[in-house]
Amino acid sequence: MGKKIIKIFRDAQSLSAYAAAFYSQLAHEAVTARHNFFVALSGGSTPARMYRLLALPPYSEEVPWQKTIYFWGDERCVQPDDPESNYFQALQLLLGPVNVPQENIFRVKGELEPLESARDYIERLKSLATDGATAPVFDLIFLGLGSDGHTASIFPGSPLNDEVPVLAVSGNYQGRPANRVTFTPMLINYARNLVFMATGADKASALVATLAGSADLINYPAQRIMPSNGNIFWLVDEAAAGMLPGHLDQFEMERIA
Ligand code: 6PG
Repeated sequence: MGKKIIKIFRDAQSLSAYAAAFYSQLAHEAVTARHNFFVALSGGSTPARMYRLLALPPYSEEVPWQKTIYFWGDERCVQPDDPESNYFQALQLLLGPVNVPQENIFRVKGELEPLESARDYIERLKSLATDGATAPVFDLIFLGLGSDGHTASIFPGSPLNDEVPVLAVSGNYQGRPANRVTFTPMLINYARNLVFMATGADKASALVATLAGSADLINYPAQRIMPSNGNIFWLVDEAAAGMLPGHLDQFEMERIA
């Protein structure tokens, strides 16, 4: 069974600095072991600081960008050059600046009808799978947490679905595009490393309910995320961790000065 670790940081900047260093470490480990690095990026605003740090030295020079394969854990069904696109954000802040080869980037085709986009994404995942699997084993999947408890685009009230790796869904959150394509827990939980990043006091209630509350997989979908064999890391700042107890049985908890 893998590691289950919560790291609490002073602020979003120190969390992002740690996440960038961890990304680099995992990239080198994966490429050394398997000659490539499969990553699924998350969306929303939280990852932006980390993207900017990774696009600068030393990471821009030392991370094996050419051997990294990118997917997204979820995407809004918008055009690829729409500022609301998770792909567009990552392209602008990171993938473009470090020259990730276009052939390494597997974006959700948000310009298609959602069901068609989901079908296309399932095929793209399958094209890179081995041993008859439906998708590659991701070395790293980033995840966010909404103040409503959603993660990726798995929203409260969404039915439990572990038959397919990807779904077309609709979810309303902070006025963001509702039509989305998302990885499901079935796919997410096969990853070697899952890294949640959550910052800000507006996440405190959802975080404590997810990690310390009673089991409620329907209303707190991030509880569905528990790796089969891999590691799970919750990187949170003090503001988001404000309601967490000092100890949680199933997690190692660490405050980073
Ligand atoms: C999306 C994201 C979503 C995000 C959370 C947190 O497409 O919106 O993938 O799951 O991670 O909503 O968003 P913030 O980082 O902006 O708080």
